[in-house]
Amino acid sequence: MHKFFAKPLFLGKKVVFLTQCHSTNDELASWVKKEHIPEGALVHTNHQLSGKGQRGNTWVDQPCKSLLFSILLKPIFLPIKSQHLLNLITGLAVLETVKEEVNGDLKLKWPNDIYLNEKKVGGVLIENNIKAGKIESSIVGIGLNLNQEVIEVQNATSLYLESGTRFDRIDFLERILMSLESWYLKLKDYRYSEIENIYLKYLLWKGELHMFQDKDSRFLGKIKGINETGKLIVERDNIDQTYDIKEIQFIY
Ligand code: BTN
Repeated sequence: MHKFFAKPLFLGKKVVFLTQCHSTNDELASWVKKEHIPEGALVHTNHQLSGKGQRGNTWVDQPCKSLLFSILLKPIFLPIKSQHLLNLITGLAVLETVKEEVNGDLKLKWPNDIYLNEKKVGGVLIENNIKAGKIESSIVGIGLNLNQEVIEVQNATSLYLESGTRFDRIDFLERILMSLESWYLKLKDYRYSEIENIYLKYLLWKGELHMFQDKDSRFLGKIKGINETGKLIVERDNIDQTYDIKEIQFIY
């Protein structure tokens, strides 16, 4: 395995590759605890034994078929109330990289699942370490289904299944790093509304009437956008309601 990624400026300059591990997010977190490591440090693997997803779910992979990696960011410049922007830029970086390679309908399901032709192709799990009111470090974990020929998870797909093309994992990873780097620099430049506007362009189900579930019931609603802290705004019976990640489910 190579020692670092040459093309990005500061992401992926320090790299650990593991043939398998429990979770790249956990590996990176324990590395951060042990020593001082630079922003952009990366852990990637061929296979996770207990990959973590959002809402306490697991992320299941087939060895050597997908991208499974975590990157360390240190966004101390980012106000805590704007931490959702990390989700937005990561989703956008993955989506844009996929868009360069595959034709199809690409969307971001709030907050940052990557959907291709209405099926999930990738996911992001960000774990922030907040100290003294600042985001001291952020572990950005990305899973992307590249070359799977069969996917057993319901409503999920791979780039191979949608395009018939096989992808080089390291090359793809390097492209995501370059895209994420340029989005991260926009974030550092406080270009928040530009980021949000592009994100909204890709937001799945935006402006359409669909079925949702909250803690009380199923209801028909229309996604209007996100608020200043990244919560989802859904119009329901002509009233705008906001939801956090654990408070709403999309019903297909
Ligand atoms: C989701 O859609 O639920 C988020 C999935 C995130 C999976 C990635 S794979 C690499 C990194 N390590 C983990 O344990 N999870 C993330």
